[in-house]
Amino acid sequence: MVKDLEIMGEFTEEEGLTLVSQTSLVTNSADMMKNWRRVSLASDFLAKYYSYYFPYKEKAKGKISRETAENNISFIMNELIENTAKYSDARDKTVTIKLLLLEHEIVFQVTNYVTPGMAESFRSLAQEILESNPEELYIKRLERNTESESSDSGLGYLTLINDYGVTMGFKFEKKDKEQYQITVQARMKSREE
Ligand SMILES: Nc1ncnc2c1ncn2[C@@H]1O[C@H](COP(=O)(O)OP(=O)(O)OP(=O)(O)O)[C@@H](O)[C@H]1O
Ligand SMILES: [Mg+2]
Repeated sequence: MVKDLEIMGEFTEEEGLTLVSQTSLVTNSADMMKNWRRVSLASDFLAKYYSYYFPYKEKAKGKISRETAENNISFIMNELIENTAKYSDARDKTVTIKLLLLEHEIVFQVTNYVTPGMAESFRSLAQEILESNPEELYIKRLERNTESESSDSGLGYLTLINDYGVTMGFKFEKKDKEQYQITVQARMKSREE
């Protein structure tokens, strides 16, 4: 059972973050479902917008380059936004997208609303992702997907963790009998280690 308030993984409330900059976009999943292009448009906009914080390749000492920043932000944002469009099954279709820039980190955050049933299955998936070895789970899912026809491949967050070194956090908050507010947070270092 999902509790009325549950936080899993690495999740920091916005008030606890020291921001260099932030941008948010409030929209709704119905619009994105009507025209899927809106998912990549929103991701690409935020990626381009923030890429100017990052230096050209030749000047990018220790920091990720402008080109890498743009590609990474676009990919990560796209995965998170796509999920809000696909899984928002509650009455409230509002989706809030945030990109928070910290000194050495980028925080991606999306909020959407789901029914208690969806919240429950998401909670167990989140738990599985957080408790597993992400590389092994990725392979396991790949094998499962070749055997079944399901369109939800379950590879999105695992790809972010494995290929983009992202840490994930999830917050579930009961709003009323029929709705949970879900917040997904992904954090990525903007400096090369
Ligand atoms: N924002 C969200 N709201 C509700 N449920 C979500 C949300 N994001 C993810 N989920 C649940 O978590 C599961 C895992 O998400 P993930 O993005 O890793 O894979 P996927 O969307 O199933 O497949 P893929 O991203 O590979 O197309 C989803 O199948 C869905 O059940
Ligand atoms: Mg996905």
